[in-house]
Amino acid sequence: MSTIPVSLAEEDLQKFEEGMAKCPSCGNWHDMDGLDPLLEYDCQYCDGHVFCPMSISGFWMYAQAGEGGMGRVYLAQERNNSTIYAMKLSEYTDECDFRFQSLLYEGEIVEELIHPNIVRTYRFGYKAGKAFLLMDYVQGITLENCVINYALTEQRIVKWMIKLCNALSYMDGLEVLYRDLKPQNVIVDKEKLTLLDFGLAVHKDYRNDIDEENLVGSPSYIPPERVEGKAEDIRSDIYAMGMLFYFVASGKNYFEGPAEEIIEGHINDQRTPCHEVLVGRSTEFNKILDRMINRNPEKRYQSYDEMRSELEALEKSLLPVY
Ligand SMILES: Nc1ncnc2c1ncn2[C@@H]1O[C@H](COP(=O)(O)OP(=O)(O)O)[C@@H](O)[C@H]1O
Ligand SMILES: [Mg+2]
Repeated sequence: MSTIPVSLAEEDLQKFEEGMAKCPSCGNWHDMDGLDPLLEYDCQYCDGHVFCPMSISGFWMYAQAGEGGMGRVYLAQERNNSTIYAMKLSEYTDECDFRFQSLLYEGEIVEELIHPNIVRTYRFGYKAGKAFLLMDYVQGITLENCVINYALTEQRIVKWMIKLCNALSYMDGLEVLYRDLKPQNVIVDKEKLTLLDFGLAVHKDYRNDIDEENLVGSPSYIPPERVEGKAEDIRSDIYAMGMLFYFVASGKNYFEGPAEEIIEGHINDQRTPCHEVLVGRSTEFNKILDRMINRNPEKRYQSYDEMRSELEALEKSLLPVY
């Protein structure tokens, strides 16, 4: 589904320490002295681009792996180790103090999470005005790119839903709410699914008193409770997961239009039943989504176990008959 990055040779990492970087297209070395790190420069010998590497906490960042609203993520490697890691970085500036703080807070939360469907984090901290978080590099593509590029079977989607349910249920056991489900924060690779980006995650004793001006999250997946400044619980993550999988199953978001209209949609009592808008999916699948995205938290699934058992029953019914 996606290209696998190749780890760097020990000589390459050694050259980084001498201030040199290699063009991935022609293989020529460049003196990066005086250039800004973590940026790409035109190669002097071909049409390629040379990335200016930077080291933090013993890890060399040598290519960009992704970008989100809060920071950039780079491929990273340390000397004498061929494992490729992902390093999320946020730079301290007066205007962006919250980004810097939020990455450190993310590190504290995600460090305690060890689960097959959650990205593993190894280290976090700050150095020279930069907050960093070192994690496993996750092979695959985000749900966003997957939905754009591939026709997905219901069986595949339901398998992913069970995996995400397991990850969220595990977090629930540790009293953590995720609060940022969206296609860019989930990486899939065939049947594998990994949840990333714990930048909005909180421990459950947290009570939400955010007003609309400071509404956080991606408009398409925000639970109505958050829009109204009410406390969130697992049913809010279930709502966002429903909106996310509506997108995965249909290729478009349940509410579309300008952000204010989408947000208005979440708190509006009206919900068009999924079977009227989501064609080509089973009745049972649509019923599960309807329940997840109900305006009223009391009418959603009340636990992950309850949701998982319905998803597993659906998965069984979808098994090919030989
Ligand atoms: N561990 C990882 N392995 C591979 N790609 C990653 C990893 N972490 C993040 N990414 C990529 O970087 C993007 C931004 O990372 P994310 O943690 O979501 O940052 P933000 O908080 O800015 O949204 C993701 O959407 C994904 O494409
Ligand atoms: Mg993100």
